[in-house]
Amino acid sequence: MLPGRRRSAVMSLAVAVLGAVMLQSVSSQNGRTRRVVSPPVYTAGPAGFIKSPLSETKLTGDTFELYCDVVGNPTPEIQWWYAEINRADSFRQLWDGARKRRVSINTAYGANGVSVLGVTRLALDDSGTYECRASNDPRRNDLHQNPATTWVRAQATITVLQSEWRAAAYFSPDGGPPPLFSVSEPSIASSEHTTLPTDSYSPPITLQCNLSTGYMAHDESFWMKNGEEIEETRTTNRNTEYKLVKPRGDDAGVYMCVYTFDKAPPANATIEIKAAPDITGHKRSENKNEGQHAILYCKSVGFPHPNWTWRKLDSGAFMDIDNSSGRFSVSNKDNYTELRIDNLDIGLDPGEYQCNATNVIGTSSVTSILRVRSHLAPLWPLLGVLAEVIILVVIIVVYEKRKKPDDIQDAR
Ligand SMILES: *[C@@H]1O[C@H](CO)[C@@H](O)[C@H](O)[C@H]1NC(C)=O
Ligand SMILES: *[C@@H]1O[C@H](CO)[C@@H](O)[C@H](O)[C@H]1NC(C)=O
Ligand SMILES: *[C@@H]1O[C@H](CO)[C@@H](O)[C@H](O)[C@H]1NC(C)=O
Ligand SMILES: *[C@@H]1O[C@H](CO)[C@@H](O)[C@H](O)[C@H]1NC(C)=O
Ligand SMILES: *[C@@H]1O[C@H](CO)[C@@H](O)[C@H](O)[C@H]1NC(C)=O
Ligand SMILES: *[C@@H]1O[C@H](CO)[C@@H](O)[C@H](O)[C@H]1NC(C)=O
Repeated sequence: MLPGRRRSAVMSLAVAVLGAVMLQSVSSQNGRTRRVVSPPVYTAGPAGFIKSPLSETKLTGDTFELYCDVVGNPTPEIQWWYAEINRADSFRQLWDGARKRRVSINTAYGANGVSVLGVTRLALDDSGTYECRASNDPRRNDLHQNPATTWVRAQATITVLQSEWRAAAYFSPDGGPPPLFSVSEPSIASSEHTTLPTDSYSPPITLQCNLSTGYMAHDESFWMKNGEEIEETRTTNRNTEYKLVKPRGDDAGVYMCVYTFDKAPPANATIEIKAAPDITGHKRSENKNEGQHAILYCKSVGFPHPNWTWRKLDSGAFMDIDNSSGRFSVSNKDNYTELRIDNLDIGLDPGEYQCNATNVIGTSSVTSILRVRSHLAPLWPLLGVLAEVIILVVIIVVYEKRKKPDDIQDAR
């Protein structure tokens, strides 16, 4: 048996060696956790880390928790400290309920000291270095002592990114270290929405998008109109332009510049060019037979897509269509409208129909003429031929009748 003092010294040494081995294995698991270990104090079992906090990258609004598990005899006291990124000289102690109660600290002391630091509803300025400090040195709170010699410390870096931008997930799918450069949401400066003049020609318009600098390299950019890519607009420049040389109604719509990235989702900006509707297609007239159906249509350019209405000229004025017979149906699709009339009535339906396109910028209308023929109409040519035949027969018969007496005379 060893004498008491020597035995305790050997045990202290064993604990210290064990602690050092553990530290080594923890730091090789997580190369990014830096650790400052004070020279061990061999008099009792010094504080040592079993589990130290791990660095993480989080998004705004998220929550993180850091764990700290320490051994020592007596059980060490645990504290949490914080310093802003690149301000390692200005650590401040954290307490339960700090940062408007977003910080929670739960510590249990038993054989080990175990502490969990939680921070909820993360904001960008929660980024920084979080440090778990542990000490069981009786002189640890002595102001004449250098804390560096009485406390052991383990650090983790928390990086908080803007949540709309999930680039972090693309950079480190395995939860590995975040990029060494700072990542910000790509921002695109784009031209204002524009409205084309209703009563004059518009000057040329140049649509511009500028991708914010300081963001990672993009692959290329291109322009879209109404959801479709515009050909030959792909470029690798940060600043991109699309020119409308003679802007007209059919140039109105939703334009979008799209930037693509190698390791992140595309980013885009939208520019609306508004214009009053202009009806560019319709049927001037439609000829149908009674009992058939007729379809009248109108289509427009301009943006936003118009509200469509149909009316009928009735005693000199356009009136809402009387649908009491239920034969009228209207179907609208963005820049297109169709009026269908079933089972045409020769007495009620012929006339002038007007389609009206109205959007927030202006209004436009055109008329179509519907003619309805009797269903006897297709028979008329036949009737004509028939009439001709009858007349011919009558003439022949009459001629024959008048000829007969002469024949009789001749026979005498
Ligand atoms: C884009 O950048 C160009 C050149 O720096 C500048 O003239 C233009 O005003 C910018 N456009 C927008 C929409 O910010
Ligand atoms: C434009 O960006 C939005 C989100 O910012 C996304 O939902 C949309 O799919 C993008 N559109 C295109 C065409 O890339
Ligand atoms: C009408 O809108 C569709 C998509 O809604 C578009 O593809 C088409 O080019 C437009 N037609 C005109 C004449 O604007
Ligand atoms: C006319 O009435 C029919 C039958 O009730 C209905 O299906 C149709 O939508 C109506 N048309 C219009 C233009 O209101
Ligand atoms: C188009 O119709 C919708 C619904 O009926 C209405 O809310 C909107 O104000 C109309 N827009 C115009 C420009 O008349
Ligand atoms: C179209 O209808 C709207 C609403 O009824 C009316 O204010 C506008 O004057 C009409 N447009 C034309 C060109 O007739």
